[in-house]
Amino acid sequence: MKVLAILYNGFKAAKAEPRLLGTVENELGLRAYLESQGHEYIVTSSKEGPDSDFQKHIADTDILITTPFHPGYLTKELMAKAKNLKVCVTAGVGSDHVDLNAAVDRKIQVLEVSGSNVVSVAEQVMMSILLLVRNFVPAHEQAVSGNWQVSDIARNAFDLEGKVVGTLGAGRIGYRVLQRLVPFNTKELLYFDYKGLPEEAEKAVGARRVEDLKEFVSQCDVVTVNAPLHEGTKGLINKDLLQHFKPGAWLVNTARGAICNADDVAAAVKSGQLRGYAGDVWNVQPAPADHPWRSMRNPLGGGNGMTPHYSGTTLDAQQRYAEGTKQILQNYFENKPQDPGNVIVGVGKYESASYGQR
Ligand code: NAI
Repeated sequence: MKVLAILYNGFKAAKAEPRLLGTVENELGLRAYLESQGHEYIVTSSKEGPDSDFQKHIADTDILITTPFHPGYLTKELMAKAKNLKVCVTAGVGSDHVDLNAAVDRKIQVLEVSGSNVVSVAEQVMMSILLLVRNFVPAHEQAVSGNWQVSDIARNAFDLEGKVVGTLGAGRIGYRVLQRLVPFNTKELLYFDYKGLPEEAEKAVGARRVEDLKEFVSQCDVVTVNAPLHEGTKGLINKDLLQHFKPGAWLVNTARGAICNADDVAAAVKSGQLRGYAGDVWNVQPAPADHPWRSMRNPLGGGNGMTPHYSGTTLDAQQRYAEGTKQILQNYFENKPQDPGNVIVGVGKYESASYGQR
């Protein structure tokens, strides 16, 4: 079979650090395995436009491996050209870069390594919440630039204790965030999700479900977004919804950039309507140099906690999603059942309930 992987270039770092498995150089550690089984393995970072390796090779590829960090966008049109394609594997979590509805129609399976980096992201969410609430970035900028003016930082720094924190999406990551928030003695933990948590799980973290989205955001000092990107979440956080946020709330989004309207969020930070926004996911990746999220600041000079997309690709996470990808391939080649938690789209139907209510 022909297996095509779209990965990002790791350059010098990937040569020096073999644990950077998600790079073109280190090939998810799959070459020896795939070739020993007689398969052809093509690895490339070239993914945009008709002359890209992605578009050239997709025509006769049987299995496509992609990652959310350098997404090979498998559109409906591209899928129509992919005559042999049977399986798409996401090395990581989040398969929105594949047109999932088209995959259902074409009976192409979409699998991901569910759970492989959910702790990595939950830790990033905690860091992002703390760096916004405590106004860390401007404080650090003072330290490295030779300045020292505590009042300029402290005037916009708060404790997380006593605040209301809510997660939009309470699946693997959202729930782990709730668990990690428990020792911070927040005033309340809330969640918004069309799937309620099991009673025991809700009780264990003391979280309350709010069923109306506007009511949910209006009660939160901090909102963290932990839902997949699909028709029901695209552009969900926009000018209209932002009006229902508490004035001066903080927003963290490590789920997918396109869940937020980029211009509306930047305007809300600039006006102070949001005290800050942090995340690692962008509506276009790599983000252009003039993306408004790179330079936005609140009126007091802080409130920007953006990074490139890396929360789910720590070295620990890479080991887990590389191993998980190999296991998925092995199951497929040997006709063994897949872990049901890894199946987003099965043959001709959604198997995961996380990509919208159907
Ligand atoms: P999950 O499938 O365990 O949980 C997602 C939850 O979101 C489910 O409970 C689902 O019901 C809920 N949901 C879906 N649509 C919703 C809506 N409209 N409103 C409220 N809740 C909704 O997924 P998991 O593992 O927690 O991951 C969530 C997302 O995080 C992934 O799909 C991916 O996009 C993103 N992610 C980001 C990473 C990064 O590196 N920044 C790494 C891993 C995941």
